[in-house]
Amino acid sequence: MDEQNRLIIFDTTLRDGEQSPGATLNLAEKLEIARQLARLGVDVIEAGFAIASPGDFEAVSRIAQEVGQLDQAPIIASLARAQKGDIDRAWGAVQSARRPRIHTFLATSDIHLEYKLKMSRGDCIEAAGDMVQYARRMCADVEFSPEDAGRSDAEFLYQVCSVAVQAGATTLNIPDTVGYLTPSEYYNMIAGLAARVPGVKEGRIVLSTHCHNDLGMATANTLAGVLAGARQVEVTVNGIGERAGNTSLEEVVMALHTRKPVYAPVWCKVDTTQLVRASKMVSAMTSIPVQPNKAIVGANAFAHEAGIHQDGMLKNALTYEIMRPESVGWNATNLVLGKHSGRAALTDRLKQMGYDLTREELDKAFVRFKELCDKKKVVSDADLEALLTDQFESLATDMYRLHMLNCTTGTGNKPVASVILLDTDNELHEDAAIGNGPVNAVCNCINRITGVDAKLVEFHVHAVTEGVDAIANVTIRVELPTQDGRRYVFSGRSADTDTLVASGRAYLAAINRGLAQSKRGVVSDKVVANL
Ligand code: KIV
Ligand code: ZN
Repeated sequence: MDEQNRLIIFDTTLRDGEQSPGATLNLAEKLEIARQLARLGVDVIEAGFAIASPGDFEAVSRIAQEVGQLDQAPIIASLARAQKGDIDRAWGAVQSARRPRIHTFLATSDIHLEYKLKMSRGDCIEAAGDMVQYARRMCADVEFSPEDAGRSDAEFLYQVCSVAVQAGATTLNIPDTVGYLTPSEYYNMIAGLAARVPGVKEGRIVLSTHCHNDLGMATANTLAGVLAGARQVEVTVNGIGERAGNTSLEEVVMALHTRKPVYAPVWCKVDTTQLVRASKMVSAMTSIPVQPNKAIVGANAFAHEAGIHQDGMLKNALTYEIMRPESVGWNATNLVLGKHSGRAALTDRLKQMGYDLTREELDKAFVRFKELCDKKKVVSDADLEALLTDQFESLATDMYRLHMLNCTTGTGNKPVASVILLDTDNELHEDAAIGNGPVNAVCNCINRITGVDAKLVEFHVHAVTEGVDAIANVTIRVELPTQDGRRYVFSGRSADTDTLVASGRAYLAAINRGLAQSKRGVVSDKVVANL
């Protein structure tokens, strides 16, 4: 398998993926996802958009310093508009990685140039050349994206791309920003660029795909691009991203593995057995559930319901299965731990599950594990997973922590909740409220204490395992108001054997995220009007 035909897997879960509504991730979560991406073996991690906020800058920098310094570290990239300030900030964030990359972009479609950028085509060509050159003065690895390439004039696209290459771009990424193209159109666009942009045929310049899924064609378009000569794909775990999302990493990787002769000589070096774990981690941390029928990583992806299918499967799995579930990480080991298991057993199990925790994080996990063992006889991998993703949710930056929660409910009377929260100075704040249901009463109570006019817009609860002692995993989305009258969505999650406690913690986590974002300047100080 030759290097020239190795498909570079560029993961943008932490940048384009995080642009999914409500998917804001905190620093600890971003680092944990980046470590999992490195374990998966992706080649490039786009860790964020450094100029977007101080929080984004910090996250990209930390990922560059930690994950970007591992043995065989992936390239760490930051997005930057084609502007000096953005490029400086991107470089500031990625420069400590062993292999840093600046990814700069400028729209090339007439729609974007006229209405968004108010730029002429001439200005666009000049800015693309100047800014790629500017980035190249700092960083040897510069990627250029003509945004909305899919709706750009083909001749003009060739011109801009050629100028970017002359200015020093080493990768040309071709976005179908609005998910508009069909596979044959995307194929032709990539093939056209491969034939005409100097350096692509010689292998000096890598062409890259970046497809959105608005018409459900992101994976098909990406694979068409690979057949046309692209040697980098920009993808996200679970296909999360703006609007209908990006191309899903697991689908592209498994298409390549399962249909080798179709894509040969192209290959990739991803460890496919880490796919399910990455999917679960991203889903838990972004609070974006994976649809059960999602290819590769959906709960039903390998479930056979019809009698005829089950019969076939029993005779030979090849009858209805084109991939083995183990090959993507389903049903790996599922050892159970219990109250007799000690710290070493837990540490060992977590390591095998891929969690690389600090001593402090392990201490915290062990306390919660022991608490769980008092309530639950056996603790499975799924339970540990729920506990851990919950653990990443609470941060030192949280403004409030749940100290006590009580609720009386039943027939006849309205449910009444009483809650005590601890603030960052360890001061207690308590109140009580009624609601239409117990969860509503708890949320109303938290609103009264924090003074935040939050509105619950989504509530999901699922049992992590079977049985009466199962942990309830609660995912919540809340809308927080801003002074300008807009409302932003934040998500929160929590896991507990008590559904109401998990609901209260998840609701508070979403509020804490909103408050932290407003403090860090992500959505500016406009966020929470009532504070
Ligand atoms: O979809 C898009 O055009 C992008 C670019 C910024 C690469 O995400
Ligand atoms: Zn995109």
